[in-house]
Amino acid sequence: MFDTLKEQILSITSNSDANTDTQLQQICDLLKENIPHYDWVGFYFKNGDKNELKLGPYAGAPTDHIIIPFGKGICGQVAVSNENFVVPDVKAQDNYIACSITVKAEIVVPLFVNGENIGQIDIDSNTADPFTAEDERFLEFINAEVAKIL
Ligand code: SME
Repeated sequence: MFDTLKEQILSITSNSDANTDTQLQQICDLLKENIPHYDWVGFYFKNGDKNELKLGPYAGAPTDHIIIPFGKGICGQVAVSNENFVVPDVKAQDNYIACSITVKAEIVVPLFVNGENIGQIDIDSNTADPFTAEDERFLEFINAEVAKIL
């Protein structure tokens, strides 16, 4: 599954006619529609020079969490840790921002441009404990490709 999707990601990122937000939206839609355990897919980016994240393109239910301060929630923690954060059970996390009561698990992978953590891809799942190292490698691949078009 991930190999076919990787090809599709490359065809999205190599389309120089589309603007970046359109390309990111297409990536979110592609992942949400094709991966059964991806129920919400979105990008957050550092908001200018502020120590906060701002929601970018996403696919799934609208969220109230457009702005997330660094350190808050899973996303805010990844903004400062620079490391992948895989959450098999969101109920077990103290520092977690709930977007929907249906969400059981989450994965957040930072996005680096020239070694700097400038954002992240965030996936919510309604399935318990669905994420493996394969998801991590796949999302790292996507972020590395996205970094080339930002
Ligand atoms: N659950 C995230 C907040 C963002 S929503 O999942 C869209 C967090 O704890 O950072």
